[in-house]
Amino acid sequence: MVSFDRRAWIPVPGIPVPASIHVPFDAPPGAPGEAPAASVIPIELYPTLKFTHVSLVVASITLFAARGAAVLAGRLWAMVRPVRMASVAIDTLLLAAGAGLWMQLSLQPVRDAWLGVKLVLLVVYIVLGSLALKRLRTRRGRALAYASALACYGWMASVALLHDPLGALRLLLP
Ligand code: HEM
Repeated sequence: MVSFDRRAWIPVPGIPVPASIHVPFDAPPGAPGEAPAASVIPIELYPTLKFTHVSLVVASITLFAARGAAVLAGRLWAMVRPVRMASVAIDTLLLAAGAGLWMQLSLQPVRDAWLGVKLVLLVVYIVLGSLALKRLRTRRGRALAYASALACYGWMASVALLHDPLGALRLLLP
């Protein structure tokens, strides 16, 4: 039997490891301790992909915050085509980089609940953002949706940073 170091997924012949992580290297797919399938994106690109993802996270929320504030102030630039296209481009790249990291790390949204919660919050954020920028007609409704979207985004970021489905809410628990 060949053991492997679970942290590095590297076979370490002859080196004893604790029983809890001593698994057959050629375990069938789905077996406990099975090594993840090699990602199509080289793992060497992980730091670059993560940096890109996080940079786009900041760019995306900065643009949304500015557009939302402009809509509330009655400025027209927030909804002109080039600005809308820039927002779509940033968000598409952001999600693509997130999906790339997801694949690289072989995460599963149910097992890795922080990712599952992040994806659900992403849908909530998109709906709130759409209500804030165009769907709602009253200024009060838009302001509420805008504030809720910003809070949702912040929660999403804290879920990602803490790798915890509760995110920043965890800090409020005793
Ligand atoms: C399709 C959407 C998304 C997917 C699949 C995704 C997935 C991921 C993955 C797999 C990581 C790497 C975690 C790690 O290195 O351990 C990550 C990091 C991160 N994501 Fe996302 N993400 C998405 C959208 C977002 C959004 C919208 C935000 C903004 C709130 C966000 C904020 C972050 C942050 C701040 C990190 C860095 C966490 C750290 O430093 O460990 N992500 N994301």
